[in-house]
Amino acid sequence: MRVLVVGGGGREHTICWKLSKSASVEKIYCAPGNPGIRKLAEIVDVPVTDIVKLRDFAIEKSIDLTIAGPELPLTLGINDCFSEKGMKVFGPSKAAAQLEGSKVFAKEFMKEMNIPSAEFETFEKLDEAINYTEKTRYPLVIKADGLAAGKGVLVTSSKLEAQDFLKSVMSDKVFGDSGSRVIIEDCLIGEETSIIAISDGDDILVLTPSQDHKRAYDNDEGPNTGGMGAYSPVSIVKRNIVDEIRKKALVPVVEGMKKRGHPFVGVIYAGMMLTADGPYVLEYNVRFGDPETQVVLPLIEGDFGEICMSAVNGSVSSAKIKPAEKSALCVVMASGGYPGSFEKGKIIEGIDEAEEIDNVIVFHAGTGLKNGKLVNSGGRVLGVTAVDVNLSMAHDKAYKAVEKIKWDGVHFRKDIGKRDLERKI
Ligand code: AMP
Ligand code: GLY
Repeated sequence: MRVLVVGGGGREHTICWKLSKSASVEKIYCAPGNPGIRKLAEIVDVPVTDIVKLRDFAIEKSIDLTIAGPELPLTLGINDCFSEKGMKVFGPSKAAAQLEGSKVFAKEFMKEMNIPSAEFETFEKLDEAINYTEKTRYPLVIKADGLAAGKGVLVTSSKLEAQDFLKSVMSDKVFGDSGSRVIIEDCLIGEETSIIAISDGDDILVLTPSQDHKRAYDNDEGPNTGGMGAYSPVSIVKRNIVDEIRKKALVPVVEGMKKRGHPFVGVIYAGMMLTADGPYVLEYNVRFGDPETQVVLPLIEGDFGEICMSAVNGSVSSAKIKPAEKSALCVVMASGGYPGSFEKGKIIEGIDEAEEIDNVIVFHAGTGLKNGKLVNSGGRVLGVTAVDVNLSMAHDKAYKAVEKIKWDGVHFRKDIGKRDLERKI
């Protein structure tokens, strides 16, 4: 089949890499791609938001399947737009993508479907939200309703910080219309895990659990980021917990969306908190996680192209996945200063040497080319991933590879996977 991948980050590099190993896939295009993806796919110079142009391209090139990487084209309706012309998209319709596009929608949906999630209130007026922060208990969590590139959530014990955040979101509109409504919810305590499932609208295929590292600095300090590293599987997320999450948090999404007339086809990513009272949903995403994809896809045996196509064709139950026998760990190498401002255009060296290590893959995210040289062009620059027989070996290998890569101002966390490794001692 001929596949078009939409996006240009580390997640999309991983998707293209996995597709390049799929016997069913004869040709890969990627829009807009990145310098790493260029080696695996033909680059298409169309932004992810221009869904009509992407559709025209897909028709012209007789694309069999388009895989939407990021949330934005999905919430803009890439599935609906392509479907009008009979083109297939792996990813939910605009209506079903609301599960990620609107936190208010997601919370109300969870309430209706009895999915365990934190108690919440919705606010449309700043003064009412401020009023609530005066009388409620702390810590609390404030969330902008719409998409905010992972930055629209504040977890705080400080009333002052809560009120400042509310003002910046609802009054100063730092996230634009995404902040027209906010959720204030109870703070859940526990460890997080990302559970990614592929749905065909009726059935789901649950992939190996992973864990992201959201904070910028070691020991989970500093500001929230898109994710500074990940590993999979996660020792504490045992089979029975995955089964419970499947039953309480994934199957109800499939059933609820079907009932609403918007069958969910694509990725259901449940961001879970494992609390003392069992697993609770923090959020849903409607696409693969980044950097979770960098560790989850390398562990899948089998034809990834076929798996995605089976979801679109309503036969995901035919795509069996064996439990992962190895471990994968990804260290995100970022531009110093991220998630704040940072300098771009620094020359990156050592990727080839890093990839000489067996089973190390360097996925590109925010890289660019300047005078023919590879430079940093975004916050998260590379996802250095290693696969090995256990987490400890994957960890050592990934960090050995990281040591070989250099640029001026590089920042990465030194403790990816540490929690799980220490747990086992
Ligand atoms: P979200 O975008 O909703 O996943 O939120 C981003 C991050 O904020 C999550 O990965 C958690 O670390 C944290 N978070 C969100 N909701 C809660 C909650 N109710 N309790 C504790 N932490 C939360
Ligand atoms: N790594 C978090 C996300 O993809 O949303």
